[in-house]
Parts: sequence; C-alpha cells; structure tokens
Amino acid sequence: MARAVSAARGWVPETIWRKVGTNLHLQEGHPLCTLRAAVQGYFESSAPGEFGFFNELHPVVSTVDCFDALCVPRDHVSRAPSDTYYVDAGRVLRAHMTAHDVPLLRRGLKAFVNCGDVYRRDTVDRTHYPVFHQVDGLRLLRGDADAGGELRATLEGLARRLFGEVDVRWVDAYFPFTHPSWELEVRWRGEWLELLGCGAVRREVLRNGGVGDEYQGWAFGLGLERVAMVLFDIPDIRLFWSTDDRFLEQFKGRGLEARYKPFSVYPEVCKDVSFWVGDGFHINDVHELAREVAGDLVENLSVIDRFAKDGRESLCVRVTFRCMERSLTHDEVNALFAQLRQRLQNQLPVVLR
Ligand code: PHE
Repeated sequence: MARAVSAARGWVPETIWRKVGTNLHLQEGHPLCTLRAAVQGYFESSAPGEFGFFNELHPVVSTVDCFDALCVPRDHVSRAPSDTYYVDAGRVLRAHMTAHDVPLLRRGLKAFVNCGDVYRRDTVDRTHYPVFHQVDGLRLLRGDADAGGELRATLEGLARRLFGEVDVRWVDAYFPFTHPSWELEVRWRGEWLELLGCGAVRREVLRNGGVGDEYQGWAFGLGLERVAMVLFDIPDIRLFWSTDDRFLEQFKGRGLEARYKPFSVYPEVCKDVSFWVGDGFHINDVHELAREVAGDLVENLSVIDRFAKDGRESLCVRVTFRCMERSLTHDEVNALFAQLRQRLQNQLPVVLR
C-alpha cells in the first residue's frame, strides 16, 4: 500500500481494522470482560430491570452521532483527523461510547449502559493504545426528581463496588454534552485516580434524542483499561491484547480479586531517529507508522530533542522496542527500525538527518 500517510491521514489503517470485532470485553476470563461484567452487575443489582445493556453495538458511527448530536463544537480537537479515525467524510470509528446515546434515546430507551471498543489516534506508550474500551451509561428521570443526588449516589456506589471502601472526591470537569460535569476520583494506594466522567445531560442533547422537556438525564463514561491497569496491577496496556496463557491464565475465575504478576521482564532496545519536519507534519503520524511497522513490539515513542534552525524544525525521536513475551534479537530490531526510517522518509513530510 503505497498511499502516503499524510494524504491518507484519518483514514483507517489495516492494523486498526483488524481489531474491529475482537470484543475483548466479551471474552470470558479476560480482565476487561471481568471488569465490564462487574460494572454491568452493579447496575443490574442496584436498579433491577431498569437498565438495558448493549455490548455489541458496531464501532462505525456517523459524525452526527459521535459529535454533532452531542453538541461537540465544530473546532473541538476530538473531531480532527489527527485524533479520530475517519472511515469516510461522514463516518468514524467511534471515539467514545457516548456516540450511541442519541440513537438509543431515539429508540425510546430510558436507561442504558453500553460497552465497547473505541478508537483514537494517540501516542505510543505504556498507557495509550489506539483501541481501548469504555462503558457509558445514561438514565432519564422525571423533571422533579433529584437527578444530581441519584448520579452521585449511583456512581459512588459503583466506585466502591470496584475498589472497596475507598475515599472518593468530585472534581469539576467539562464535557460538551453534559452540564454541569464532574470527574469522580478514588483514593487508591495514596493517589487520586480519575475513575469516570459524568454530568447532567444537556437539554439540546436530550431533544436530539427525541426526549420531551418533562425529562432530565444524567450520564457517565469510564475507560476500562485505565481502571483495569490499577485494579489488577497490569503495567502495560499492550498486555490486554496478549494471547499468551501466562497472562490470560492469571485472570480466569478470579473476578475482581485477580492481581497480575509479571511472568518475566524482557530487555528493551532503544533507537533514535532525527529528521527535519515539513508542512503538514503531525507527530501522531510517526506514532502510527511505528505501530504499523512494529505492532505491539513498540513500547514507547518520545521526542527527546527538538530545535529550530533557518526556519526549519528538527526532531529527535527515541523509539523503545520491547516484547512482553520474549527477548527481541538485535537483527529483528534493526530490521524493524530500518523499515520505520524508510517509511518515515517515503510517507511523511520529513527529511531524515
Ligand atoms: N465520553 C466521555 C469521554 O470519552 C465520557 C463521558 C460520558 C462524560 C458521558 C460525561 C458523560 O471521556
């Protein structure tokens, strides 16, 4: 495929398409499935029969459902093709599960919890991966109900179901589709951990869902990987995609009590590449190329030096390779790195130094 990444920016690479349909959150015994089931179980028991559960909604959604219907401003970063994967001009791989809220409201549902894979172009490091999973929920209430009180009680209850008797705190936040908005944090091993975002659903969003003004609604969204990493001691987000039994067997049948013990830490290999950048360059393209070339063997990319000369900018990027399951050979890493340099040169507006 000789298509230039910069010209194709935003279109979906083959490596990403291959993740669609994997549905880690539905694979019995997988830590993401355990966590999804715990969240779902909490809503089933705290409000029996109230919530509908949707775990197999397709990740290709319209830009209307993902952004417009949710009042996401025209110039919001999440709409940029450097952040979101566009399937075509009118459709994206969903950047959040909230994309399903308006269509589900249109179907007349009053309370629901959705879980699925979401897609964002992002950096390569131990906590970011272009595919991750979210649980989103929404509930409508009559206009005279205490929606704020219910939101707080319900979500604090969820935090304690997952983490036990922890301290929690509410922090003001911003989301385009809710107002007011908060983040709920839990105190975990001496640090405040952001658990979820939430708020009162904007009137305009409810109207887009065909909901009458006699209703109000509250909604929340939570990233499963981030929570699973702290809860189960999982040090690298790539592990969720591992098919190695030494990883998967540690979770089977253990529920939320599972704690991961690294079976081995294999050595890393670092390589640096320096280049001049031209017009239309975006660092996310380098991250994406590295993933396309090395897949899960690339652990981290970071800009370690940057300077400007004669109006041109030069970057030095350090690429860290490490496999979670075995030692990499130098020949193997050299070959991957040579391929990466080649593709940087051929596909991006850069000049290698
Ligand atoms: N969609 C938000 C996110 O991806 C989370 C969220 C959902 C916040 C619903 C408020 C209400 O971060």
